[in-house]
Amino acid sequence: MKIAPSILGCDYLNLGKQIQSVVDGGAEWIHVDVMDGKFVPNISIGIPIVESLNKIQCFQDVHLMIDSPEEYVEKFIQAGADAVSFHVEATNKTTSIIKTISSTSCLCGIAINPDTDVKDIYPHLDKIDYVVVMSVFPGFGGQKFIESTPEKVASLSFFRKENGLNFEIEIDGGVTKENAKILFDAGADILVSGSGIFKHDSPAQAVQEIRGMCF
Ligand code: DX5
Ligand code: ZN
Repeated sequence: MKIAPSILGCDYLNLGKQIQSVVDGGAEWIHVDVMDGKFVPNISIGIPIVESLNKIQCFQDVHLMIDSPEEYVEKFIQAGADAVSFHVEATNKTTSIIKTISSTSCLCGIAINPDTDVKDIYPHLDKIDYVVVMSVFPGFGGQKFIESTPEKVASLSFFRKENGLNFEIEIDGGVTKENAKILFDAGADILVSGSGIFKHDSPAQAVQEIRGMCF
């Protein structure tokens, strides 16, 4: 299981220190939420932060919650992203974006909103590295986990096994130590957590607590 703290939950005045603390606590990925105020009703961070994070030894998982991601994926890869995911609801160029990302060493993810059927992405699953299953509607940290998510994860996991595929399944939104185990059991490989980690007194300990639930 990979744990990916979402820096949307960080104290931005202490961004570098907070990221270093979760990396030291064993977090494998750092989840970077990019919002444009159009695809989602909120604006967050962008390319300059990704460039700055190159100064820290960490794997940057960039989650694009933006319209027309085809216009930006290459810029985020150039800036230093190690993995980029984009929303299939935000573009009609899914196939070409997958090709663009896959022609680099960056991992390619596709993200789906809670009301998007997993079947919609079946045709792409042999060409990508990971799926981001949203367990809240994207746009804000600190929302309540949608309880039907583990069923969606289980059906993706079943499809993966039936078809001999090896994409990973990432869950994003409202993930805490309380729901980590049910997600792990359903087939999740990567757990994103913002508030669950950065609102904890010790973010490094929160990473370990979430991981500790998964066995
Ligand atoms: C939601 C973001 C999530 C969010 C996770 O739009 O994509 O990554 O920051 O934060 P929590 O864990 O607080 O829901
Ligand atoms: Zn995210």
